[in-house]
Amino acid sequence: MPMPIHPIFNEHSLQSIAKAEGLVVICADAAGSFGPSAKRVNRLMKGALRKFADSEVFEKMDEGEIQRFPAPLGLLANAVLLLKMKKRPSVEMAQKCGANIAKEAGKSNIHLFVTANARAAHLAFGIAMRRYNFNEYKTKNQTAFGSLNIYVTNVSKTEIEYNDLGAVVDGVFFTRDLVNEPANILTTSEFSNRLKDLEKLGLKVSVLEEADMEALGMFSLLGVGMGSESPSKIVIMEWSGGGNESPFALVGKGVVFDTGGISLKPAGGMEDMTMDMGGAGVVAGVMKTLALRKAKANIVGLVGLVENMPDAKAQRPGDIVKSMKGETIEVINTDAEGRLVLADVLWYAQKTFKPSGIINLATLTGAIIVALGHENAGAFSNNDKLVNDFIKSAGHESEGVWRMPLNKNYDKLIISRIADIKNVGGRTAGSITAAQFIQRFIDEDMPWVHLDIAGVASVKNETDFAPKGATGWGVRSLNRLISDIYEI
Ligand code: BES
Ligand code: ZN
Ligand code: ZN
Repeated sequence: MPMPIHPIFNEHSLQSIAKAEGLVVICADAAGSFGPSAKRVNRLMKGALRKFADSEVFEKMDEGEIQRFPAPLGLLANAVLLLKMKKRPSVEMAQKCGANIAKEAGKSNIHLFVTANARAAHLAFGIAMRRYNFNEYKTKNQTAFGSLNIYVTNVSKTEIEYNDLGAVVDGVFFTRDLVNEPANILTTSEFSNRLKDLEKLGLKVSVLEEADMEALGMFSLLGVGMGSESPSKIVIMEWSGGGNESPFALVGKGVVFDTGGISLKPAGGMEDMTMDMGGAGVVAGVMKTLALRKAKANIVGLVGLVENMPDAKAQRPGDIVKSMKGETIEVINTDAEGRLVLADVLWYAQKTFKPSGIINLATLTGAIIVALGHENAGAFSNNDKLVNDFIKSAGHESEGVWRMPLNKNYDKLIISRIADIKNVGGRTAGSITAAQFIQRFIDEDMPWVHLDIAGVASVKNETDFAPKGATGWGVRSLNRLISDIYEI
């Protein structure tokens, strides 16, 4: 498994510059003025850096942009990177600058000289977030990332500041690894084992097996896993760092592979459905972060782990299943399985934990990608405060989210002729009817947000903070929401 890469913070030292191997990174502000480290690099480079910073090319660079000077005279480094950044950038900009450095650096050693910059920890966070790859199954060219050294004037202060940010990096990487894993490796049992491992960090982890779920009447969830050799499971992760208040609940869709079931998906692109456990992956990542940074909050994470396969034992279109809530569901399309899983996990979460609120995450609909593309997740909610708090957190964490409507008028689309409800509406408003379906399993007065992350959990192009593939979208925002609103 790729190891999270955390920086080493070193006491600022001008002597280190000439000797640093790999890349030397220094900054200049918009006016082109240098700090002591850039001045030293400029002297070593016989004024070449100054000349560039006075040029029109530099003037036209945006904040966060980088200029590379290959094979600089007078330094041992392979290249010098000059980053254009204000002396006191916003936190978001500092993180983005860090990510840009990592992107430009590739696998090289990084020596970043920031001296007294107040945002050193955030620069470090940005670099660490972007220095991720999933190499597990490459048998060749598996070179690891080089070292990451950051030179600051106050090492212990920066280390303390980085501590909680590093916990976020670890949580995000845990999510990315889970989402990137293929489905022959990350079966429901393997997933559950990896979550059990989190007990080492002080989380309480328990598992509901199929027999337990049968006893509880969770036939909506169980129906989805009928065609698979892998046993369906619900894994419950509890972090009790708060007082005696009731917990906040996070619930994730964990379909380890979604073939569509008997309503089989077309072959083209089906391989992407290894990421259909993305919601569960995010919940797991947040729980890991909370444990690592010893959050002062009570949070329970529940994930429904199933595999949606076609088989002689698989459920059929037209089947009627009874949910734990007691309502019956006509399964029109076995490919609309996520909502069937969430229905029972959400109901169980409410009845068992009486949470103060719930956020669920799911790669639920292709329709949300049609609506929002890969830039924003869709947020559906019955509670303005909770959803607005979340949107605010996401804004601070550079994670895109856009609120979508819920309205009882859509309910007529999911009325069944013979059961209480059916699992798909028509062709229109696919993401909304999915959300309306889920809401049927949320108590009226329960603050709740449903995040449809189908477009953002794993992407084909690199993003600011992640290479192609799993992004870990949501870990940062949820961790932020918890620290801003739910910590005591
Ligand atoms: N897992 C899919 C949704 C999905 C699509 C996730 C693309 C990520 C990328 C979900 O289970 C599904 O198949 N939804 C169907 C619902 C339809 C049958 C009503 C869809 O979106 O087509
Ligand atoms: Zn599906
Ligand atoms: Zn699915």
